Amino acid sequence: MSPSPHIDEQPVLVLDAIAYDYVDRRRTVPVLRNLSVSVSPGERLALLGPSGSGKSTILDIASGLRRPTAGWGQLLGHDLTSSSPGDLANLRLNSVARIYQDFQLFPRLSALDNAAIVPRLKGMPKKQSRDLARDALNRVGMAHRLDHRPSQLSGGEQQRIAIARALVTEPLLLLADEPTGSLDADLRDEIVDLIIEVLPTAAIITVSHDPEVAARMSRTVRIERTA
Ligand SMILES: Nc1ncnc2c1ncn2[C@@H]1O[C@H](COP(=O)(O)OP(=O)(O)OP(=O)(O)O)[C@@H](O)[C@H]1O
Ligand SMILES: [Mg+2]
Repeated sequence: MSPSPHIDEQPVLVLDAIAYDYVDRRRTVPVLRNLSVSVSPGERLALLGPSGSGKSTILDIASGLRRPTAGWGQLLGHDLTSSSPGDLANLRLNSVARIYQDFQLFPRLSALDNAAIVPRLKGMPKKQSRDLARDALNRVGMAHRLDHRPSQLSGGEQQRIAIARALVTEPLLLLADEPTGSLDADLRDEIVDLIIEVLPTAAIITVSHDPEVAARMSRTVRIERTA
């Protein structure tokens, strides 16, 4: 049988025996120990663990925002321990999308321009970027609030803007941190369906305390609190 034209078997992300400590002048906080995980195109991983166990930290490391204290990692063939910050920033812009746990919307931009930010940063003209953003906002049920700023939106509405922003550019890796935590059950199911439909061949890591969301992923990884 010939391989599927869409599925490239190279993992999108490899984390190998990762440790992470938050270190500042006053203290060292050990968070991750000996974490190994790899995610391939089309694979959907549910990342579970108690509050404070390091799930959001893992997403930081996976996207090259934090260098692991020990261990090794690779994102789309780029070494997460030795690539330059510029190289990793490029990779994030072009191939990685993140739905932040606290949304991280730009307070002075409208919903439409928040959702259009990634194509804009990639150099796409404003009208074309906004067209993509409008389409994504429509799909998350936010077409009626395009000109609202984040402070003029409910929590669940802000979360849907963050989801639309992540879906606009068809990333190869989606890092979704409690992506439906502010939504009701019906919307949650719709949004999970949408993410899977829009990104069928992306590698997806979803942090969620919700068993219904975890059940929609193909695999589960549990982490424990270190200290
Ligand atoms: N800048 C920092 N300096 C020191 N410790 C930190 C820092 N940021 C996070 N931590 C600690 O690291 C641990 C892991 O944080 P992280 O945000 O990754 O947890 P989490 O699993 O995502 O939790 P939650 O489910 O509550 O979102 C926490 O105990 C937190 O207090
Ligand atoms: Mg977190």
